[in-house]
Amino acid sequence: MSKVVVISGHPNLEQSYTNTVILQQLEASALDVEVRRLDSLYPDYHIDVAAEQRALMAADVIVLQFPFYWYSTPALLKKWLDDVFAYNFAYGAEGDKLKGKDFFLSLTVGGPEESYDPLGYNHFTVEQMLHPLQQTAYLAGMNYRAPIYTNRMVFIPGVYNTQADVEERARDHAARLMSAIRKVVESPEAIIKKFVAAWFAEFDQLPAESEFFTQSLASDVQWVMPEGEFAGHEGFRDWYHIAKATFKPGCDHHVEQITVNPKGAGFEVQLRIRLSAETQPASEFKGAPVNMLVNETWQVQIEAARVEIQTYYVEPVTAS
Ligand SMILES: Cc1cc2nc3c(=O)[nH]c(=O)nc-3n(C[C@H](O)[C@H](O)[C@H](O)COP(=O)(O)O)c2cc1C
Repeated sequence: MSKVVVISGHPNLEQSYTNTVILQQLEASALDVEVRRLDSLYPDYHIDVAAEQRALMAADVIVLQFPFYWYSTPALLKKWLDDVFAYNFAYGAEGDKLKGKDFFLSLTVGGPEESYDPLGYNHFTVEQMLHPLQQTAYLAGMNYRAPIYTNRMVFIPGVYNTQADVEERARDHAARLMSAIRKVVESPEAIIKKFVAAWFAEFDQLPAESEFFTQSLASDVQWVMPEGEFAGHEGFRDWYHIAKATFKPGCDHHVEQITVNPKGAGFEVQLRIRLSAETQPASEFKGAPVNMLVNETWQVQIEAARVEIQTYYVEPVTAS
């Protein structure tokens, strides 16, 4: 199941009427949710960057949950962002650790709907005011999803709203957020991307047995490689034998590009993979390290959230 990490940026949840309700609803849901309450983890604003980065790397979906403060995040969440989205983590030459993750902003807004309008007293839409966070997601290579927010969330007894009303809106907010998350994690594209990551992580290890791979191959799979064409599970095992005689375990398949499009009864997956590997001394590469780029085209089907590969074409990218 996809993992959802929710970063709660409210500076004092004990005094919250709405963010607490949203977090409770999320934790009670059937989703695999981890809530990180920054106010209790870091009352002194000293963020444990390594712990936060580990939590984000384990996530498929990242949610920032916060009350809108001065048209932005509370200072605690901004500090978290400044510290955690560091060079070579979220950006920079090796800063691809958040790439491909789904990113939701989920916020409670005090002002009414009509104020967030060119003719209203807030002049701009909430979406416009979130542009810096949207661009942050783009720079980190994350998938920015439509923000989930709810207006009129201030409760000041006898002045603004009633507690029952804001709590009701908070429950509705949580339901909308969970439904948006489900749509993203249950989409064929998400299922296939997760599968691709697990597939190449296993290929990096080149395990002795090939069951991990064959369990996701159609019995009549067409396996077309630079080394030749192979058919069915038996054919795959023949090819796997060649691969193991060529590359050493501990290689790196880096997914540089991936697109998923419906085709026939299933989906066509197009990939560009960069393979860096040590090679076996007796192979054609004579033990020299290799760094190669290949284009892959797979035809897959999804049955009960399981991916099955029907055809698998790999061709090296060559200089034109
Ligand atoms: C310091 C501060 C700044 C705020 N700034 C805004 C704002 O810019 N726009 C707005 O609509 N509401 C603003 N509010 C209202 C909060 O968004 C609202 O109180 C909050 O979402 C309610 O969440 P809670 O019940 O979990 O505390 C602000 C509140 C505080 C305390």
